Amino acid sequence: MNEKVSAIILAAGKGERAGFGRNKLLAPLSGAPALYHTLQKFYTEDIDEVVVTSSKFDLKEISALCAPFGYKVVLGGDTRTQSVKNALDKVTGDIVLIHDGARPFVTKELIKKCIGAVKSYGSAICALKATDTAVYGHYGVICERLDRESMYNIQTPQAYLTDEIRSAYISAGDKVYTDDSAVYCEFIGTPRLIDGEQSNIKLTYARDFECGLPEFKVTGDTRVGFGVDVHCFGEGNSVILAGEKISCDRGLIAHSDGDVIAHAVMDALLSAAGLKDIGHYFPDTDEKFRGADSMRLLKEVAKIINKEGFAPSNISVSVQAEKPRLSAHIGAMTENLSKALSLAPENIAVAAGTCEGLGFVGEGLGITAYCAVTLKNIQR
Ligand code: CTP
Ligand code: MG
Repeated sequence: MNEKVSAIILAAGKGERAGFGRNKLLAPLSGAPALYHTLQKFYTEDIDEVVVTSSKFDLKEISALCAPFGYKVVLGGDTRTQSVKNALDKVTGDIVLIHDGARPFVTKELIKKCIGAVKSYGSAICALKATDTAVYGHYGVICERLDRESMYNIQTPQAYLTDEIRSAYISAGDKVYTDDSAVYCEFIGTPRLIDGEQSNIKLTYARDFECGLPEFKVTGDTRVGFGVDVHCFGEGNSVILAGEKISCDRGLIAHSDGDVIAHAVMDALLSAAGLKDIGHYFPDTDEKFRGADSMRLLKEVAKIINKEGFAPSNISVSVQAEKPRLSAHIGAMTENLSKALSLAPENIAVAAGTCEGLGFVGEGLGITAYCAVTLKNIQR
């Protein structure tokens, strides 16, 4: 049977022990928020759906990180247990992997192994055999020695049949657990242990962000692109810029809707991804694109670069126009770009100015838009 595989990535904690004054998962690690690396690991053909938990404080930032991957974001709860429950409510797969966002060093190989094991055994808990001797201690003295031979340190991911783990969590009621295997043990049965990875540590304290961490492979992660477009004024009484219809005493002449901003952004994105320009994808000799809605084409371009393994990190647009006045429309234009590209508005800037009467823009003959973008790698 071809079971649907979902994953839950838990990111709704406060990270108090790390002491950064905010969620540790948004703190930088190898040039990106720590959570970004975890999200990237689950971007694999083996997983059909990813649900990420976030607190309401981090919702905007975590949603922006998840958007390029197409992951769902749900509000977590006050405890990890409650966060898992909230996410389980949204999961639609037959199998579910539950993973701490705080374990960015997990590998795609371990994720694959975990999925293979749950398909064979009905559960799969990544764990490492204990190497240190462990004891029960109370009030500073050892009360009981434990048999190290049968001791394991539990990690995530942990994989379950969705129906089973969901029903276990329902049975758990309001009780709080530190991991999912404990809930499974209590209400379902004995889950299967599989070998975890030594490097799959959980970022807990500030020091975990600094010393002895496995290196992330840097593969030209940031790409830069630049795009320019010009259209000249002709008949009409409005222009469309970044999807916003703005009154003007002239219109812009174009095969499409003449949205110079959308066109400059598309060229910048394609260029950053090392692809051909918009003329190649949407030729102006093709009747199909007559009067085309350029923001729709921009969404297409976003999909094209996603397929190449990239997503925009920030976009900087500069427009030169003697008319119409654009300042009142900057917010709406930014919002339109944000929606088309699933990129948080904080990562988009649109600036507008005139040309002080100089050149073709200054003489009111047309409008020019420039755009610079950076892309990040979201390679599967
Ligand atoms: N987590 C969650 N919801 C909570 C608490 C924790 O989704 N209410 C997530 C964290 O974001 C983390 C994972 O569960 O990825 C494991 O928790 P932990 O390492 O304890 O992280 P925090 O709870 O954020 O840290 P601390 O306990 O130091 O505050
Ligand atoms: Mg915690």
